Amino acid sequence: MGHFKYKNGVLFCENVSLEEIAHTVGTPFYCYSSAHLRERFNAYEAGFAGRKHIICFAIKANSNLAILSCLGHLGAGADIVSGGELFRALRAGIKREKIVYSGVGKTAEEMEYALENDIAMFNIESMEEMALLSKIAENMGRKAPVSFRVNPDVDPKTHPYISTGLKKNKFGLSMDQALAAYKRAAADKWLSIKGIDCHIGSQIIEMSPFIDAFRRLRKLIKEMAKMGISISYVDIGGGLGIAYREESPPEPGDYISAIMEEAADMDQAFIVEPGRSICGNAGVLVTKVLFTKENGSKRFYIVDAGMNDLGRPSLYNAYHEIRPVRKVEKEGVSETDIVGPICETGDFLARSRPMPRLTSGSLLSVMSAGAYGFAMSSNYNSRPRAAEVMVYGGRFHVVRNRESWRDLVAGEIVPGEGC
Ligand code: LLP
Repeated sequence: MGHFKYKNGVLFCENVSLEEIAHTVGTPFYCYSSAHLRERFNAYEAGFAGRKHIICFAIKANSNLAILSCLGHLGAGADIVSGGELFRALRAGIKREKIVYSGVGKTAEEMEYALENDIAMFNIESMEEMALLSKIAENMGRKAPVSFRVNPDVDPKTHPYISTGLKKNKFGLSMDQALAAYKRAAADKWLSIKGIDCHIGSQIIEMSPFIDAFRRLRKLIKEMAKMGISISYVDIGGGLGIAYREESPPEPGDYISAIMEEAADMDQAFIVEPGRSICGNAGVLVTKVLFTKENGSKRFYIVDAGMNDLGRPSLYNAYHEIRPVRKVEKEGVSETDIVGPICETGDFLARSRPMPRLTSGSLLSVMSAGAYGFAMSSNYNSRPRAAEVMVYGGRFHVVRNRESWRDLVAGEIVPGEGC
């Protein structure tokens, strides 16, 4: 449970009671532990043990400015996938020379914005993208730094929706295409080749797919060298999993040292793009039981957070542990569905979960919600998005206000007299 622990029967984030936060900010809210972020970031650092590297936090996992700024202060760079993420990274003070731009569908506007801001490199995913970037670089009169994302065709053994390094996935260039792409880029005076990139999927809990992918990448780098193409960066992507339940993924330090061992004779700088493994277990979603009800043998807790707040259970059937914020006697344990207020059968946070008897008003903490939680939340059913708080320096800080009903309609325009 890391920095989320019971003290005198109440769940705390570091030294702050989640009950106390709920009383002040209301529910639902996300709560993040800055100590956890620091520990995980430093664990990655330790793995590199003196090798040249950049740890580019994958902003998509959690883009709150407080998180980005905390990681930026520790020395993190960013892996971005949109102009919006670049805007956030710069706002949070992340150094531009530590920003890499991934993603299959960058627009011309986004490319210009990233070029103007001198980011470290673009991870190119298709020939057409390369051609567009070169044209934009020429128009702007500045060379674009590039890496190519290769698709090593290895099975990361994770949920099919979050596998990205298989031939059948939309990501990257095949190994053969990559060689042709490097040749083309080398001949293009508006592109400057910086490195190579690969990312095979997310929530990977074994070492072997990472090693497999790295060996393939290494082979390709050797072939490239024979063609006279040398690179200074090797980006091994993100994807390291966390424990949601009983999984035991490699620790970040062990994962990185294993790759560094494979790379003992290489002199390039390494880039890693972790998201979940830095912030996943740094956060929880706290929600309140609105009603309890029983339909025959089935018990339901209807809570005030729904699939719009945390979509992972509905989208991927993902498991998140759910703990009462105030410990209760284990009496009356029975299989319970913990469901949200949204008008969809798929709106659940947990199904058939043994839960103790709770009453309306009880607080629940949905664990391991710091990655792809708030970041994927929406306003579906016109629900204002939750507040976010961070525990830092011994107290909690609201790092995003709860949205209001006014926020929901800001930006909407009714034409004329209202049709
Ligand atoms: N780099 C690239 C190019 C990526 O596509 C991703 C994640 C990452 C890095 C960071 O991966 P991580 O270290 O967080 O595994 N919404 C899904 C996860 C989607 C991941 C997409 N790409 C979920 O909730 O499980």
